[in-house]
Amino acid sequence: MTRLQLKDKLARLRKLRFKINVGKREKVVIPTPPPKAIHRKFKIVERYPLYEPFAHVAIVQDPKTGACKYILDELQLDSLERNVYNRILEILLAEIESPKEEIPDPRKFFAEEAKKIVDKYRISLGWLPDVSWYKILYHAERDLVGFGRIDALMRDPNIEDISCDGVDRPVYIWHRNYESLEANLKFESDEELDNMVVKLVHMSGKHVSSAFPVVDASLPGKHRLAVCYRREVTPFGTAFTIRKFREDPYSIIDLIKLGTFSEEMAAYFWMCLENRASIVVLGGTAAGKTTALNALACLIKPGSKIITIEETAELNLSHENWVSLIARQSYGLGGTGVGEVTLFDLVKTSMRHRPDVLIVGEVRGEEAYVLFQALATGHGGMCTMHAENIDSAVKRLTQKPMNISPAYIPLVNLVLSVQRVKPIEHGGKKAYRRIMDIHEVADYEDYRCTFKWHPTNDKHVPAFNKSIMLPAISERLGVSEKEMLSEINRRRDVLHWMCDRNIRSYKDVAAVIAEYYARPDQIYEKVIVGEEVKSIAISRKY
Ligand SMILES: Nc1ncnc2c1ncn2[C@@H]1O[C@H](COP(=O)(O)OP(=O)(O)O)[C@@H](O)[C@H]1O
Ligand SMILES: [Mg+2]
Repeated sequence: MTRLQLKDKLARLRKLRFKINVGKREKVVIPTPPPKAIHRKFKIVERYPLYEPFAHVAIVQDPKTGACKYILDELQLDSLERNVYNRILEILLAEIESPKEEIPDPRKFFAEEAKKIVDKYRISLGWLPDVSWYKILYHAERDLVGFGRIDALMRDPNIEDISCDGVDRPVYIWHRNYESLEANLKFESDEELDNMVVKLVHMSGKHVSSAFPVVDASLPGKHRLAVCYRREVTPFGTAFTIRKFREDPYSIIDLIKLGTFSEEMAAYFWMCLENRASIVVLGGTAAGKTTALNALACLIKPGSKIITIEETAELNLSHENWVSLIARQSYGLGGTGVGEVTLFDLVKTSMRHRPDVLIVGEVRGEEAYVLFQALATGHGGMCTMHAENIDSAVKRLTQKPMNISPAYIPLVNLVLSVQRVKPIEHGGKKAYRRIMDIHEVADYEDYRCTFKWHPTNDKHVPAFNKSIMLPAISERLGVSEKEMLSEINRRRDVLHWMCDRNIRSYKDVAAVIAEYYARPDQIYEKVIVGEEVKSIAISRKY
């Protein structure tokens, strides 16, 4: 440790004021300058706390190259504290009893139990200032019940993905504001990296080993974990990627505010979904397909029976009549498939549960075939698919392994594609997600573009005159097309009204949508006069 770093650390420790009793801590707010070495070479762009007072982050920029880095600044244990920590860890592992009944928050349980045990042993383990005990407890919680060295990153709401490409290679993160950033975090040895990954996989209730080196799992908190273990398939050593789950998912209102959807577009989807339209969301990796699908599903009529089928649980709906099915990997060795429950099996099974709408997280293989069978028998369906545009999507659908007959393609009503773009309107630097276009499928190779995104002014332009869905719906409902369009406008006003009032959490949005389904005229009247409908809507129990 350099003298400067030592001075910095002492200054920080002095600012930490704790009460003598370990059980009660005063709220301390400390400004944390990142280590001095960073000051000289890099410019600090932003810094924020992750977990006061233990972990902070600084986004720094190299003035020469303009490249940004993610600097995690976590209070570390010194050698004395590390010794005590090792002993405390042994004691904790031996003494903490597993809870008698199921507990909602294992971390909280551990923190409370650990405090009691530390209080019991702190005298016999030698004198340490309270600050050190807090650091030790923080590290114990992080390493035993948390996500280990990446725990602080998991606390950063700005991080979308965390990935490690192998041993002795920097961890990369995808930051909401700065995109891909190298973090000052590395796993130096195979052992350290492997242990950490095994622990993560075990936290998900799954198994990883040289015999089963590839695992897809769902971590506590529904974060998606993908692992390639040891050097079985990844020559640089264990690699993992975590796609973080948003506790509070993006609602359609969030996506409108972010500019991904336009209000009119969302109203059009709302109209189509009410009338059982089937929808496919296209896009590349991390384009925002699942997020768009989830937000759209919120527009489905509340009483509908929805079944979602996924490989790892990502979808989060507010509907009460919702069943979530998750595929399961095989337990057997090699390709025996013992105990495996595939997406294909689940889609087949789901048909026996009579869903109104079947949602498949992502179609890749033969499950697409069954989904189309479901569409053919009059069920509503939604899915995402990895494809850049409608032509390549249809090509994939009609080829192996999906094998959908071209005659079945028109069973899909709407295809929307989402992409990350850098609108010139906003400086051309930052990436935003935008729905690029929406097509209605009239027939195989006959697609009608009803919305298009214009890069020059970052606007979505509708072309309702090309729609075949709207005339078909108006005919079925016995209303004129003019009335249909005016209904779309009304719904646009309701969505606009929610944006204005910042009714955005997916539950609140679902509540207003449910109100509109139940009593459209009353709700619309209130929207027109700008009255508070929120109170009625939110008071409903969901
Ligand atoms: N419209 C959006 N605006 C901002 N961030 C988004 C948007 N859509 C998705 N994201 C974020 O991007 C990441 C990837 O989104 P996801 O929907 O899982 O992508 P995909 O399903 O295409 O792989 C997630 O962390 C999500 O929160
Ligand atoms: Mg996805």
